Amino acid sequence: MNKIIAANWKNNGSKNLIKKYFDYLLKNININNNNKIIFFPPDIYIDYFYNFIKEQNFYIGGQDLVCNSDNATLTGGTKSEMFVDNGCDYILVGHSEKRKYESGILDDKNISYKLKNINNLKAVFCIGEEILDRENNNTNNILSSQLNDLILNYNNHNKIIIAYEPVWAIGTGKIPSNTEISKTHEFIKNFIIEKLPSLKEKDIMVLYGGSVNSKNASAILKLDHVDGVLVGGASLDAIEFTKICNIEL
Ligand code: 13P
Repeated sequence: MNKIIAANWKNNGSKNLIKKYFDYLLKNININNNNKIIFFPPDIYIDYFYNFIKEQNFYIGGQDLVCNSDNATLTGGTKSEMFVDNGCDYILVGHSEKRKYESGILDDKNISYKLKNINNLKAVFCIGEEILDRENNNTNNILSSQLNDLILNYNNHNKIIIAYEPVWAIGTGKIPSNTEISKTHEFIKNFIIEKLPSLKEKDIMVLYGGSVNSKNASAILKLDHVDGVLVGGASLDAIEFTKICNIEL
């Protein structure tokens, strides 16, 4: 099966960088590779970014749906229709950086609002444990409680895409062992199937994120239960990210 290779640019980049990036990537990417490539540029650059990818077999997603309970009028809000209008198919929901820096605002209820209002977008729902949770053997409990938000708001028109991103692995160069990644992905899939028994394993995709780079991506992508990677820092470097996209599986 094809894997998803996703780039989360977070709050990085500029028009100048985007142009240079695609000058390199479009010349060097193996277009015959069957991996599905998704870019999450900063929301403000989605339209500019889209011009570089619209002729290509790439996908684009937004980083944050800003909405309230009933998608009512909201200054500073961004609705799913606006992302679709700008060429997006995907939206990130629940990234740990949003959970942390907007805690209080981005509590469980707010995540539910976002999941309820994705409409035609597909959510890439991010979950992951903090280092203390891991040290206390509490990882699976934390993941289960985060997954409950998704399960309660499950919209059965969409496949489920989860990004498992241990918080302690993001931007640190630290990474769980390959066996741990595979086992955790298996746990996530089994948990969802238990709660939503109409789903089969093929309906659930779990990406790994946290210090993925061109050196470790190939081994991670080949693991059982791993359907792709969500790359942060390394996705900003055109050479690095092109290498990851070109991995043959
Ligand atoms: P890094 O790849 O920089 O660790 O970031 C991962 C991430 O947060 C992707 O969403």
